[in-house]
This record gives sequence, C-alpha cells and structure tokens, in this order.
Amino acid sequence: MSKADVVIGCFYGDEGKGKVIDYLAADADIAVRATGGDNAGHTIRVDHIKYAMHLIPSGILSGHTVGVIGNGVVLNPEVLLEEIANLKAHGYDVEHYLKISDKAHVILPYHQLLDAALEKLRAAKIGTTGKGIGPAYCDKYERSGLRMEDLYAPGFAEKLQYLTESKKALLKFYDPENAVIDENLDFEKLLAAYTRYAEELKPYVCDTLTFLHKALEEDKKMVVEGAQATLLDIDFGSYPFVTSSNPTIGGVLTGTGLSTADIGNVYGVIKAYSSRVGEGPYVTELLDGIGDRIRELGHEYGTTTGRPRRCGWLDLVALKYARRVNGLTALSVNHLDTIGRFDKIQVCVAYDCDGTITEDFSTNLDLLGRAKPVYKELAGNFGELAGCQSFEELPQAAKDYIRFIEDYIGIPVKFIGTGAEREAMLIR
Ligand code: GDP
Ligand code: IMO
Ligand code: MG
Repeated sequence: MSKADVVIGCFYGDEGKGKVIDYLAADADIAVRATGGDNAGHTIRVDHIKYAMHLIPSGILSGHTVGVIGNGVVLNPEVLLEEIANLKAHGYDVEHYLKISDKAHVILPYHQLLDAALEKLRAAKIGTTGKGIGPAYCDKYERSGLRMEDLYAPGFAEKLQYLTESKKALLKFYDPENAVIDENLDFEKLLAAYTRYAEELKPYVCDTLTFLHKALEEDKKMVVEGAQATLLDIDFGSYPFVTSSNPTIGGVLTGTGLSTADIGNVYGVIKAYSSRVGEGPYVTELLDGIGDRIRELGHEYGTTTGRPRRCGWLDLVALKYARRVNGLTALSVNHLDTIGRFDKIQVCVAYDCDGTITEDFSTNLDLLGRAKPVYKELAGNFGELAGCQSFEELPQAAKDYIRFIEDYIGIPVKFIGTGAEREAMLIR
C-alpha cells in the first residue's frame, strides 16, 4: 500500500507548486487537486510551451499521470472545458487521464457576479480573483450548492431555477445598479448551458474517493497538488485577506477523502524571495526599487489575473509557521536564479513588534501590521546556475543560502529551482 506525497504552498501562493508537481508527476500515476478552483494558476513550461493550469492538475502534463479533481474543489465547467480543449489541442489524451469527483461543487455565473458585488461593497478590499470562489464555498457550507452529481439527478432544473431566482434577488439587493443581472442569469439559457456542460463532462465524473483509495491499495504513486497557500488559508491565513478554502494539510484530507494514514511526504514550496497578489498584510514586502527589481527579474505577474505581484524578501518566520501547520517534511526552493542576481540578500529571521522580538508568526492583523522584519544579510551574486546539475555544483554563496534556510527551519531542502523550464530543477 503506497502513500500520497503532498505539495503545499507556504506563503501567499505562486511559489512554483506547478513546477514541483510536474517533476513529481514524471514518476506518479495520479495527481489530485483537493481545494480551490480556477483562482489557482500553475505555470509549467514544457518544450518551451507554457501551460497555465487552473483546474486540471498540472500532473496530467506528464502524459501518463491521471489528473483527479477532488471533492474539495469548486469547479467552473466552462473553464474546465476550455482547459480540456486546450490540452487536447496539444495532443493530450484527456479522456483517459482526467477524473472529476461527483461531489465537487459547481460554480455558476451568479457566484462570479456575487464575488464582484461583494468586493465592490467591501471597505477593505480582499482583491479576489473574481472567479466566484468565495460565494461558491458559501453555498457549499450553507448547503445550497450544486455538486457535479446534482447535474445528473432528477429535479436539477427545478433546483437551478430556484437558485437562479434567489441569487438574482440577492444580487439586486447587493448591486442594484448592475444592469446585466437579468441578462446573465436567464434561467432558460443557464439550464441549456449547464445541461450541455454536464453532458460533455459526464465521462469524467466518478467516485474519486474510491478511485484514489483503490489506487493506493494497488501501490500506485500519487501526488496531491496544492493550490493557493498556507497564508491564504481561511483558518490559518491573514483573515479576511484569504481565500475561502483550507489549502493546508487539513484541506488535503477533506478535499480528497484520503486519511492521515495515506499521507507520505509533505513538501512545502517557497520562492527564494516572496510575493503576494491581492490585498492584506505582508511583513517583508518591499515597496522600493528592490521590490520592483524582484518583480521584473522573477516575472512576477499573476498567472490567473495578470496583476503585478507584490514582492519582498524571504520570510522564515512565516515559513516556520507553514512547517508547523502542515507538518512539512522537506522544502522546495524556487527562483534561486532570480535571487542570485542580487549582490546582497536579506532574509527575515524574526519580527520586531514594538520592541518585542519573536520568531512566532501570528495572523492577528494588528500584530502583523506592526511587525517589522528583522533581517539577516546573506551574500548574493551567485553567477550562472544554468549549467549546475547538482547541489554540489552550485556556487558557494548559493549553497550557503540554501543551508541557512535548512538550519533555520529544521527540514531539508529537497528541490531547488534554477530556472522556469522543466529541466531547471536540482534534486537532493
Ligand atoms: P504556482 O501557482 O505555485 O504553481 O506558481 P505560478 O506558476 O503561479 O508562479 C510561479 C512562476 O515562477 C511561474 O512563472 C514559473 O514558471 C516560475 N518559476 C518556477 N520556478 C522557477 C525557478 O526556479 N526560476 C525561475 N526563474 N522561474 C521559476
Ligand atoms: P496559486 O494556486 C496567489 C488570492 C487572491 C486574493 C485572495 C482571495 O496559483 O498559488 P479568491 O479569488 O480566492 O477569493 O481570492 O487569494 N489567491 C491567490 N494568490 N495564488 C493563488 O493560487 C491564489 N488563489 C487565490 O489574489 O488575494
Ligand atoms: Mg499561481
């Protein structure tokens, strides 16, 4: 009986999880997404083709890995069908390599409209991706959501009609100026569209829990593809500037039906610096020319929304928190090539909260707002990393940088990203 390895983002997302998954998928039979929806954007470069994966697990790009969309995902069928079409156009045999949980919740157009309306009303904006994620999870927990299996069940049309009418009323309350509500939420059109989506997706829909457990029982290799990240977690992130799911280890279990006994390695992914897209606290953010330089060197623009990402130095206080919350067993550090372009690198090793020095992260917004990073300066200027095939071949300063992270966090760095391409990854 095998165990599933898990890949989790440690910071505010976009750490390069897709690239690590892509590496692990080379040796995996199954890659499963547990949480989130098309707010995620995982970039993988294969043979100079760039894939931006939002819903389908990136692992499918290996060509021999079954991508599973777990029950914890909120799924926009229109986006999914576009992704399927794109993969097919690139020669992927999606029919045989994609499975969708019958219990995944479905995103409908009223979720996106509500997302936009609520964001407009908020005094302190979250900066959501506008994909309807929050409202879809609200419906799930309020028990008025539609699951994939509901699209095929008797009474679907009546349910959809009731939901459409009630959401229309809600939207007109939140956003009375919005002239497109009636047009975008025409029941007959929605019914026709979602009946067609249901038909097209039917071959993929199944009981993924049983599929995943049987696969482990048959000793298949499995990897869980984390989306979003620890500090965006609805419970453990910088609430309310978070997403509406648990992208941490707990969400892996509830979003797949795997149990604690099924989990193997838990890989935490970070960049050698940090970034955040959207609003909310960010202790090591650099609002100066250095932040701009990181953004340009690292091409830090959102995969999903194209927004420029906020950038800053690496925050080891936050990383230690991510290790604790997720039980990380090893790390992947990406963008060593990017950080190595700086002469001197700062790494945050503690927070100074009005004179009190702490190495313990807190999600209290007041504390986070007052916390000043305490930095340790490390040598940069790593030089060319492209030719390095192993950790040992890295320049001394690059090795020291990695070892510094390991010593502070107390777990090994197993994967090191030295460029955006699939091959630019050192394994230890
Ligand atoms: P994810 O959401 O965690 O999968 O990350 P994204 O794909 O949204 O963002 C990570 C970005 O960094 C992508 O553009 C990747 O191609 C790129 N990337 C990942 N690892 C490396 C690396 O080691 N070096 C460089 N230069 N780029 C990387
Ligand atoms: P990946 O998987 C970075 C952020 C949004 C916003 C907040 C809430 O690519 O790392 P939502 O639309 O989820 O309600 O937005 O969460 N966010 C992400 N930021 N990477 C992501 O995913 C994100 N998914 C959501 O920018 O601040
Ligand atoms: Mg991303």
